[in-house]
Amino acid sequence: MCGIVGAVAERNVVQILLEGLRRLEYRGYDSAGVALINNDDLSIVRRIGKVKELADAINDKNGKGTTGIAHTRWATHGGVTELNAHPHASQARFAVVHNGIIENHATLRTELKAKGYTFVSDTDTETIAHSIAAQMEISGDLLQSVLTAVKTFEGAYGTVVMDKQTPDKLVVARSGSPLVIGLGIGENFLASDQMALLPVTRRFIFLEEGDVAQITRDSVEIYDINGDQVEREIIESTVEHDAGDKGGYRHYMLKEIHEQPTVLRNAIKGRISQDGLQQGIFGEGADEVFKQTDYVKIIACGTSYHAGVTAKYWLEQYANVQCDVEIASEFRYRRSFVPQNALLVTISQSGETADTLAALKLAKQSGYMSSLSICNVDGSSLVRESALSFLTRAGAEIGVASTKAFTTQLAALLMLTLALGKHKEMPTETEQQIVEGLIGLPTKLEETLGLAIEIEDLAEEFSDKHHSLFLGRGEQYPIAMEGALKLKEISYIHAEAYASGELKHGPLALIDAEMPVIVVAPNNELLEKLKSNVEEVRARGGIMYVFADKDAHFESDETMRVVQVPHCNETIAPVVYTIPLQLLSYYVALIKGTDVDQPRNLAKSVTVE
Ligand code: AGP
Repeated sequence: MCGIVGAVAERNVVQILLEGLRRLEYRGYDSAGVALINNDDLSIVRRIGKVKELADAINDKNGKGTTGIAHTRWATHGGVTELNAHPHASQARFAVVHNGIIENHATLRTELKAKGYTFVSDTDTETIAHSIAAQMEISGDLLQSVLTAVKTFEGAYGTVVMDKQTPDKLVVARSGSPLVIGLGIGENFLASDQMALLPVTRRFIFLEEGDVAQITRDSVEIYDINGDQVEREIIESTVEHDAGDKGGYRHYMLKEIHEQPTVLRNAIKGRISQDGLQQGIFGEGADEVFKQTDYVKIIACGTSYHAGVTAKYWLEQYANVQCDVEIASEFRYRRSFVPQNALLVTISQSGETADTLAALKLAKQSGYMSSLSICNVDGSSLVRESALSFLTRAGAEIGVASTKAFTTQLAALLMLTLALGKHKEMPTETEQQIVEGLIGLPTKLEETLGLAIEIEDLAEEFSDKHHSLFLGRGEQYPIAMEGALKLKEISYIHAEAYASGELKHGPLALIDAEMPVIVVAPNNELLEKLKSNVEEVRARGGIMYVFADKDAHFESDETMRVVQVPHCNETIAPVVYTIPLQLLSYYVALIKGTDVDQPRNLAKSVTVE
């Protein structure tokens, strides 16, 4: 979703800003812009399309400035036009970039128009620029004006303002949309994501909800929600600088699929050994909480939600703990009941998904005993807002379609199953099976990635298809859901997932030779049931692609193509069977020629509702 970069320095900052935007491209956007102050002169350049279009439009005249802000926009209010792209200006003096949505923008617009401000865009963001200009008429001080103006905003914002009359200063404000300040020597930076600033600094201050900060070349002043000046911790980033490289792969998504054995090794390192789960891996006090936990509520969105649904099967079957899973955007707008001794678990790659964050805040007020976030980004809002956190260690995930974040979430959730099961008389045999499964998982994934060539060949058969059906049973049902999400996200083929026992309750009507049916078939206790479902499809002329264990004894014929997935322990089968489905969606998208890493209309991190 939208990205922000800003800098105040002695040198020309334009290349820092452009590089920052390039490093945020993965988040998804439709236009980009930059504003620079050079000797009291304000220049703004905006372009529809990629950052490259913007960079091509920058020249010696409009590309100089020691203070600047830049933005990639993902349209919410107002179409994809140059006029709606950020930065937005007021009085040809103030420039503003903004992530989030100002929900009361219509009211503000009417008030500001009545005061004589002229609007040139359809965006909610332009109200920020004029609101600050209006406050400047009263206070004459930029920081004070921002502190006052933000009180009139409803909704979410991460915003940065500059004034050409005070050229060595940026003022930033955060509420519901992340912002991080990067500390340099004699220069300072800011961004919506630390990834943007890794080429220039590794020292960061993550702003908290309600913070407003004034940044100059050699100072950072932060004010909290009450307007009191506060100190915030400086964090040395451990994120790899070159995490944004494709490492020889054609797409980030393919690189991230192939990184899974390595990141899974990292995810379990120091956390699990032949002796079982290590002590204290869920943080201080976690064991006390787990001891009392009788019910788990999982809240997440998209792929992270699918990880949650898989965990429900594991927690109830292996750990003997009742569990419900809910999509964050549903949970936050309905009344729900909180059982006794309930633990809230949120799952998120980014830790900044607006709906998941809002659901967590709501749940915290409604009687949950404690909250745990399973997240890939240290210091993210979700991690900071949760009582307990567990980092998945997947490394930066750039492809919009989540891959390694999902499998590391599954590993984390298996570890949570062990941690909770310990207090619920989990049989030693089950514990040992999960432990061995996890320890052997990286190697098993390496083996499974060996299917890539076979799947690339199979993907050819999908290139002219418009619809598809994914089937699974038990804990493979959410894996089928995840497979369908991957395929629709990046190849734009309509894909639906069903628990295969549901087939005869409706979806069978869809079956014909034009609708490929993808079946996930490990050798488990539901295999015979699944085989009956496969026969139902065959009897109606369906064409199937079955990912199966060799002991499941499926044979390829004219109606069915079977891909043998390496045999694995049942507890880790959902992780293993995810890999061929990721590869399938990747190769189908490749054949279709879509934008694999930045699929249309989607953003990596959904920071608006
Ligand atoms: C997955 O491929 C998607 N890009 C999307 O569903 C994603 O999982 C969802 O937006 C949640 O994101 P989060 O894990 O960062 O909270």
